[in-house]
Amino acid sequence: MAISMSKKKSKSSKKVETKQLQFSDTILFKVLYRIPAAIFLLILIFLWSSSTTVISGKFVHVCVSSRKLNNLYCLSAGTQPNFEIPIQALNNNGSISPNISASIKEVVDIAREDSNSIIGNRVQNNGSDDEVAFAVKVVEKQLEVQRSWISNKNHVTSCEGKGIYVYDLPSKFNKDLVGQCGDMIPWTNFCMYFNNDAMGEPIAKLGNGWYHTHQYALELIFHTRALKHPCRVYDENEAKLFYVPYYGGLDILRWHFKNVSNDVKDTLGLDLIKWLENKKPWLKNSGKDHVFVLGKISWDFRRKNDASWGTRLLELDQMQNSMKLLIERQPWHVNDIGIPHPTYFHPHSDDDIITWQLNIIRSNRKSLISFAGAARPDAPENIRSILINQCISDDTKCRFLNCSSGGCDKPESVIELFRDCEFCLQPPGDSPTRKSVFDSLVSGCIPVLFDPFTAYYQYPWHLPEDHSKYSVFVDQEEVREMKVNIVERLMKVPVREREDMRRFIVYELLPGLVYGDSNSQLQKFQDAFSITMNNLLHRVNRIE
Ligand SMILES: *[C@@H]1O[C@H](CO)[C@@H](O)[C@H](O)[C@H]1NC(C)=O
Ligand SMILES: *[C@@H]1O[C@H](CO)[C@@H](O)[C@H](O)[C@H]1NC(C)=O
Ligand SMILES: *[C@@H]1O[C@H](CO)[C@@H](O)[C@H](O)[C@H]1NC(C)=O
Ligand SMILES: *[C@@H]1O[C@H](CO)[C@@H](O)[C@H](O)[C@H]1NC(C)=O
Repeated sequence: MAISMSKKKSKSSKKVETKQLQFSDTILFKVLYRIPAAIFLLILIFLWSSSTTVISGKFVHVCVSSRKLNNLYCLSAGTQPNFEIPIQALNNNGSISPNISASIKEVVDIAREDSNSIIGNRVQNNGSDDEVAFAVKVVEKQLEVQRSWISNKNHVTSCEGKGIYVYDLPSKFNKDLVGQCGDMIPWTNFCMYFNNDAMGEPIAKLGNGWYHTHQYALELIFHTRALKHPCRVYDENEAKLFYVPYYGGLDILRWHFKNVSNDVKDTLGLDLIKWLENKKPWLKNSGKDHVFVLGKISWDFRRKNDASWGTRLLELDQMQNSMKLLIERQPWHVNDIGIPHPTYFHPHSDDDIITWQLNIIRSNRKSLISFAGAARPDAPENIRSILINQCISDDTKCRFLNCSSGGCDKPESVIELFRDCEFCLQPPGDSPTRKSVFDSLVSGCIPVLFDPFTAYYQYPWHLPEDHSKYSVFVDQEEVREMKVNIVERLMKVPVREREDMRRFIVYELLPGLVYGDSNSQLQKFQDAFSITMNNLLHRVNRIE
């Protein structure tokens, strides 16, 4: 399908179409179920790409409210050991309805009660909640589409028709960026994180396969693995899937805290597009069979108008067709696919995984709850302070590891804490997703989520649709309004349920959430990398 090829030509006619759809959600929803998926995607992409005029605030508001962007959290150098990078406010004059988060909860509740009823009467009759409901439905529809790309073949038995071509890019697009590790951000030297094929330094205390991995190391980890993929081909004519190993996250990371113009930030990305436009495979399918892996959040590549945070890479027309794998997707872009944040665990063998599974399933979890994080004093809307207070006021049940005072500097302190607890609180930070969600899953600690965008709307290939199998959801609005005490709430979860969730996490999910080491030889298990590759191949084999 030609997604944005004809976008320019038919823009005006589609705009009329979209406006009509907006006036009547009823019609839209009826239409949605009749039109083929391809056309639906076309509409989705159109809606978002011209969002400033057509759907405008509605979409932005939802994501703003879920992301706390109206209070831009500012970092001061040196205070954040486990720094999380702030994202640019989309709307500084945050006219955000406090009801929106509650609405999301409602819609999520409806979806939970009846996951088949994408189009419910309730959504149409909800008055002012329509837009939010619509936005949430769109997200859910997209995840459904992305889940339909999941390959049901578990193991690659043959590479027939599955050639993977890894571009040999000029070094300025990847290796040279790694070379700038000493000067990447002002308060830390990044270089040690790039040792051991970007897994970082080994952590002997935790056993085989544990390393001090940085949360932004995914681009290198993925590249190293792709180069060794059994289906890698060196002749582009034999390839089905084309991987562009541009380290776009490192590219922008080096400018985040330097005073440079937006042109400077965009330069390398634009050079890359020029480079690709001279390549036959890129032109042949308009980029649809190409994949990029970007180890930062989507918002870092979607700078709006006169803002200054990030690049415009993912907003460029030329970038719309290809698939982008990110640690956090933009919820309304179907070609943004969330894949797990890298954890500290990079098993080499099946045994490494089994040994760790036994370790955490047998762990005597002495405390009910833990929270490892930092408060957000500059963002009063953020629920972290409330959770911290509830946690420290019952220290027999809840343990708080203060990341502001360096408590989280050592990965082993965090992992050992999580291994000792039944539940791990995972409130949003500067963006909804958290690497810590994956650290807790990998430790067998049940994540407690407060925002559906933290995981449910992010990782369709690695986390199942039924999130009650592996997590507890508490709406952040309830916390903000002090309607819930998190300790009391979690005490009510029956032991049986906790054990079921934990078994599911440890045995079903864990192997697929970790990235094996660069020479990993997994036979029994599929790790996050193989799942991703299989699905990408499955996807490109169905592109026309
Ligand atoms: C925010 O928007 C409102 C209404 O558009 C306006 O009256 C107000 O001055 C704006 N506030 C800021 C801080 O820009
Ligand atoms: C939230 O919505 C309810 C009903 O829709 C309304 O009565 C209430 O005033 C709203 N609250 C805020 C803070 O806007
Ligand atoms: C950033 O650079 C511009 C142009 O050189 C200068 O005018 C501005 O004051 C600088 N800002 C900071 C915060 O240093
Ligand atoms: C966490 O550490 C910071 C910095 O040392 C401190 O200001 C804050 O009070 C601590 N929080 C708690 C709840 O102890």
